[in-house]
Amino acid sequence: MRRRQILALPSLLAAPLAAPALAPAWAQERTINLYSARHYDSDRSLWDSFTRQTNIRVRVVEANIDQLMERLRAEGANSPADVLVTVDIARLVRATELGIFEPIRNAALESRIPAHLRDADGHWFGFTTRARVLMYDKALGLPAGLARYEDLAKPEFANSIAVRSSNHVYNVNLAASIVAADGAAATEAWARGVAHNLARPPAGGDRDQIRAVLAGQGRIAVSNSYYLGLMAISEREEDKQLAARVGVLFPNQGDRGTHVNVSGAGMVKTAPNKEAARAFLEFLSTPEAQSQFAMGNMEFPAVTGAAVHPFLAALGSFKQDPVDPRVLASHMPEALRIMQRAGWR
Ligand SMILES: [Fe+2]
Repeated sequence: MRRRQILALPSLLAAPLAAPALAPAWAQERTINLYSARHYDSDRSLWDSFTRQTNIRVRVVEANIDQLMERLRAEGANSPADVLVTVDIARLVRATELGIFEPIRNAALESRIPAHLRDADGHWFGFTTRARVLMYDKALGLPAGLARYEDLAKPEFANSIAVRSSNHVYNVNLAASIVAADGAAATEAWARGVAHNLARPPAGGDRDQIRAVLAGQGRIAVSNSYYLGLMAISEREEDKQLAARVGVLFPNQGDRGTHVNVSGAGMVKTAPNKEAARAFLEFLSTPEAQSQFAMGNMEFPAVTGAAVHPFLAALGSFKQDPVDPRVLASHMPEALRIMQRAGWR
């Protein structure tokens, strides 16, 4: 994730237990309290749109997800939090397992958001996705024989792959999706193949893999789609020019589909403003909010039909791997062990 400086943090850390019994007063206001692990200016303008439409004020606490979960735990039943927003299925599932969310039934959310992008019992709903795609230098063309994640392990791609460390959640998620599709033994063979085919030892983030391939270090970069989108709309001319040179392959279009990571939110079980929280979550699934939420960070909207940024639209539509989020999360610990055993650092 692109991180901005988190201004709310010092006070947050200083007084995790100092939550007096304010809940009744908070509840009487037309306000929701949002705990967000996303730190994008565009998100804030979206919260403002919600306030304009509903007259419900949005108070935001931004911190990383571990800090937010610790704060929720420390505040307990006195927490002012109504909605928790975070990125990544592993974290959404973990928050669910910790009992942070209250499941909600909502016909609009259930009909608009595909089943693989939300919790089956309504603990959380996914609002944007990032596709884990394969990128290459357009001048050299799509490497022959490359169509699936599984192909990354082929012998002909020796010395070809630029990818970040195995322990990053993006790769743990991807490997878990391969365990779900192909089983643990096949995933281990795959991870050995990938580790063998690396063009360089894993270093840096996804954008560094894109830059490496454009500089001739490897032919295939594994990256989340939004990083390329952010380069394409960057104020730095150099990034724009690099992004224009990149070809994108959405893997596994002939079978299960491309793996996506999810940004989502759920209603906190102790929320003092439950009606407002429901309204907020429903608002996030409207086509206008979906577009605004997704475009701000160059992600894909979760809701089919919501407008996509032209740069992403130009990449074409693609099929997503519909694996159940709980199944995916259940394979993550094993997926990480597999990659590390395979020598993918
Ligand atoms: Fe990221």
